[in-house]
Amino acid sequence: MSLDLTPDRNPDHPVAPQFPARWSPRSFTDRALTEAEVMSLLEAARWAPSASNHQPWRFIWALRGEAEFDAIRDSLTGINPVWAGKAGLLVVVASKDRVTNREGAEVANRTAGFDTGAAWMSLALQAQAMGLVSHAMGGFDGAKLAAAIGLPEGHTLHCVVAVGAQGPVADLPEELQAREKPNGRKPVVEIARHGRF
Ligand SMILES: Cc1cc2nc3c(=O)[nH]c(=O)nc-3n(C[C@H](O)[C@H](O)[C@H](O)COP(=O)(O)O)c2cc1C
Repeated sequence: MSLDLTPDRNPDHPVAPQFPARWSPRSFTDRALTEAEVMSLLEAARWAPSASNHQPWRFIWALRGEAEFDAIRDSLTGINPVWAGKAGLLVVVASKDRVTNREGAEVANRTAGFDTGAAWMSLALQAQAMGLVSHAMGGFDGAKLAAAIGLPEGHTLHCVVAVGAQGPVADLPEELQAREKPNGRKPVVEIARHGRF
């Protein structure tokens, strides 16, 4: 993989290049995604690890041009619908709240969100490996999104992910153009400690 990283994106320690190379652009070309490509993205997500292999993640997807895509887009808030509406694909990431434990009792799955976070990252890295870009959004109206996708009881919405081919910065509304670049990270010493917090 060739790396074209801004100074902000240079790793402090040796790392597999896909991690600093992935970022979340907002400009998409009008390239349509195929259903086969969507299946590859979901296949990657499917192989994420989860507590007791419960696989609590659920993905509801729609391609640009479909009425369901418009309904998901219209649940996004702020400026999100403006740029994400140009993506080839929108994926709603949700999870199932409860599981049946080994004793046969229905209990809360306290790692559902953690597991689903791992699955979305697999999807994002698969998109990158396919030459696509992805951008997660927590900015949505929960009631509108739940209605748009017919979210059943006992499920939690986490985010909507826009996926597509990266477009030129100039195609974005002016207010977004300056933000269309990879950002940096806290140093490892700030987020990790050896032995004790
Ligand atoms: C759960 C989640 C919610 C996010 N919500 C939004 C959002 O509503 N709108 C947006 O433009 N970006 C959103 N982002 C993108 C983050 O701002 C972005 O991932 C972060 O700044 C790191 O940048 P990078 O992904 O380019 O490395 C979200 C990301 C995550 C993981």
